[in-house]
Amino acid sequence: MYAERAHGMTASAVRSLFAVANRPEVVSLAGGMPNISDLPLDVIGGLVSDLIKDHGTQALQYGSGQGELMIREQICEVMAEEQIHGHPDDVVITHGSQQGLDLLTRIFCDPGDVILAEAPSYVGALGTFAAYQAEVVHVAMDEHGLNPQALRQALLTLRAAGKRVKFLYTIPNFNNPAGLTQPLERRKEILAIADELDLLIVEDNPYGLLTIDGQDPLPAMRSLDDTHVVYLGSFSKTFAPGLRVGWVLAPHGVREKLVLAQESATLAPSVFSQFVVSTYLAHWDWRAQLDTFRAMYRERRDAMLRGLTEHMPPGSTWTHPTGGFFVWLTLPEGLDSQAMLPRAVSARVAYTPGTAFYADGMGSRNIRLSYCFPPPERIIEGTRRLGEVINNERDINETFGLKSFTHTPRIHPGPGPDLR
Ligand SMILES: Cc1ncc(COP(=O)(O)O)c(C=O)c1O
Repeated sequence: MYAERAHGMTASAVRSLFAVANRPEVVSLAGGMPNISDLPLDVIGGLVSDLIKDHGTQALQYGSGQGELMIREQICEVMAEEQIHGHPDDVVITHGSQQGLDLLTRIFCDPGDVILAEAPSYVGALGTFAAYQAEVVHVAMDEHGLNPQALRQALLTLRAAGKRVKFLYTIPNFNNPAGLTQPLERRKEILAIADELDLLIVEDNPYGLLTIDGQDPLPAMRSLDDTHVVYLGSFSKTFAPGLRVGWVLAPHGVREKLVLAQESATLAPSVFSQFVVSTYLAHWDWRAQLDTFRAMYRERRDAMLRGLTEHMPPGSTWTHPTGGFFVWLTLPEGLDSQAMLPRAVSARVAYTPGTAFYADGMGSRNIRLSYCFPPPERIIEGTRRLGEVINNERDINETFGLKSFTHTPRIHPGPGPDLR
């Protein structure tokens, strides 16, 4: 009885293992939950209480399908940190940026349409694209993120084959899962291709303000081009994911369609959540709070890099993020991260296997490690346990002469080091 599209909605093979991974004795480097224990909960409690007392009949009422004007104005201030000069009229509030992704795919993609995405890319986006029966074609990355030559080549090849490429989905800052960032020059190169070949770009940027090496946030792609770029933002990593408040900044026509799609999906995003975020932004020094988060994530990132340096066996490599939550680890040749996961969980460490971040089964030699949630000493202990598991796995492989299963890539490779 299910619709065709429901076949694309499949549980990840590692879901059941995550239940085990959440046991207290397991160090979980798997999830991407922000550590919000540094939030001023007593202050927020007071603000919410005042909000209900003073504006309860508004905050608990239905609202506009586009979202409330006050928060859309404040969002423009937040985006100015990344040099975006957006207008509140062009902002649509969503239930997290995840719903922005859903609405965009809904309005742009028919079954069989192609979405270009980094190799690797965010698992939640891949799930949404699959639910709409869009085909994902991955584009290679190098140490500066998405590779422009590979993008151009992919686009031309797909179009020559009669495929309809609807957009490029990219996470330019601290990519989930690769931890890589496109420098400014790289952004410009990608935008030049979008201009020349008339390509829409969906820029997903939940981590951009979480720079952790003291650097200023880079200008968003949207700040450089307001015709080809649809921008997705979120308060999930910079404030609180439980409120489910994100947004889309879109060119005028796209914004109209998004509001209609939002109305048909939810009638209106939660007014209460928007008011809570709005009150927080108005009454708390959110820029100083960002600095608190930055320092906390820096300590954890440093712990992870130190732990990896100490405990990873030769033949492993990993990325060095300058912000965000994730490190992308490549295992020594011949190891399979998915096959190894049950043994890692038995050794009380969990991670997300690289295959979760590809639509086509690639990534078996990779692991995404998150440093966002566990405290630094647990992160170091997690890397120690992981190092042992990898060493054992290598011993088993050498003893039995096993080789991991390799897939034929459907990635468009580009020149330069391939970070698959
Ligand atoms: C790249 C990326 N996009 C979107 C999301 C969804 O975030 P939200 O909580 O705003 O829906 C996440 C969450 O982890 C993410 O990493």
